[in-house]
Amino acid sequence: MKRRKFVAAAAMAGSAAAAPAPANKAAIDGGTPVRSAPLRPGFWGTQFYDDKERTELLDVLDAQSPFRWYGKQAPTKVLRFEKEFAARMQSKHALAVTSGTAALQCAVAALEIGPGDEVILPAWTWHSCFNAVVLAGALPVCAEIDTSFNLDPNAIEKHITPHTRAIMAVHLQGNPCDLDRILAIAKRHKLRVIEDCAQSVGASYKGRPVGSLGDIGIYSLQLNKTITAGEGGAIVTNDPALFERASRFHDLGGFRAPHQQMAGGQQLDWFFGTNFRMNEFSGGVLLAQVRKLDAIVTAVRGHAAHVYEGIRDLPNLKLRALPDPKGEIGTGVFLDFGTKDRCDRFLAAMKAENIPASKPGGSVILPTLPHVIAKKTIHPNWPSFTSPRGKAIRYGADTCPNTIDILGRFGGVLMDPKYTRQDTRDIIAAIRKVYPVVMA
Ligand SMILES: Cc1ncc(COP(=O)(O)O)c(C=O)c1O
Repeated sequence: MKRRKFVAAAAMAGSAAAAPAPANKAAIDGGTPVRSAPLRPGFWGTQFYDDKERTELLDVLDAQSPFRWYGKQAPTKVLRFEKEFAARMQSKHALAVTSGTAALQCAVAALEIGPGDEVILPAWTWHSCFNAVVLAGALPVCAEIDTSFNLDPNAIEKHITPHTRAIMAVHLQGNPCDLDRILAIAKRHKLRVIEDCAQSVGASYKGRPVGSLGDIGIYSLQLNKTITAGEGGAIVTNDPALFERASRFHDLGGFRAPHQQMAGGQQLDWFFGTNFRMNEFSGGVLLAQVRKLDAIVTAVRGHAAHVYEGIRDLPNLKLRALPDPKGEIGTGVFLDFGTKDRCDRFLAAMKAENIPASKPGGSVILPTLPHVIAKKTIHPNWPSFTSPRGKAIRYGADTCPNTIDILGRFGGVLMDPKYTRQDTRDIIAAIRKVYPVVMA
């Protein structure tokens, strides 16, 4: 009750012109927190687990057929997941694999990227993006991000060399990249585009699902992602040759009959591949989950929209840039505080209100990592860094000052599909309460 009253007072505070509202003191300054207990976002997909996932799992158990290609009974789960995932992503072909990292490795292999080749990726992204390129023997080249937290289209072209083969457009934290500009750059320079949608499964760009606009798209289905089987990944493409190469790479170089059918035949010969096959348990859970993807995305988007609406009139408000506001999932609502100090004060003040806030999180600034700077691979002769260009290329904080600045000065609140209206009202109330204190 007490908390409700406080929230109501906070909501009134901005509108009472004649009689000043009672002081709405921030909890960090000794006021009453907006919430009496911390609000905690959870893992999205697992909160939607129910009888559907249970039935899929039991089917596999009862059939005693956990392997995707054969078993006591004909397995169906992974194949059905691939078909439904392809349809949801408006792509001709989908391949299920064991993780988003594996999916990236398959995508890089499908594009025949190898020693001597360069791939441009954002300075701020997850380890897997960099690793997939290095493990292919190729050279990752980090470009700055902009205030969308994604690749800055203005920062790409200066990194293009005769060796550049692809741009990895990573849609970070639910927000699609500025794909129109990135795809135009790629076209101009005859480069391929890998869309990494690991953190944006279910987002769209100008009406099309992310992953379906570049040459090849990858998704992570790990616990932290929109839908999940704990681990898992997927690849989509409209190009049957890329699908075939990805499928072969994920399955030791072979191309199984069901995938041949999906691709309309085979065009390639065996080559060396690895094993990233998904098992039927994961396939079953993901089949149930992909059918819930839109419900999850709609819920998160709705909560983020409520928060955006509730803070829109704050003076001098600067939000994270959204290249397509309708396509963003709304993973978090992020504000630009102009300086790292102010942002740090915001995070502390929000914590005191029992509304956890964070910097853009969950990922790393790649060029600043010691092993990246040291170009540390599993063998000194690993091809990635042995060429003159490989030796010359620099990583380190001074190569991405904008990225470091942006990530330092932005802070925000993460959303959860199961938040209630009261939860988002509390988020709004807390931001409205601490914003003037922090910006003063
Ligand atoms: C941007 C990005 N790419 C790739 C991955 C790799 O996915 P996974 O953890 O499923 O290997 C992640 C994982 O968080 C990610 O954030």
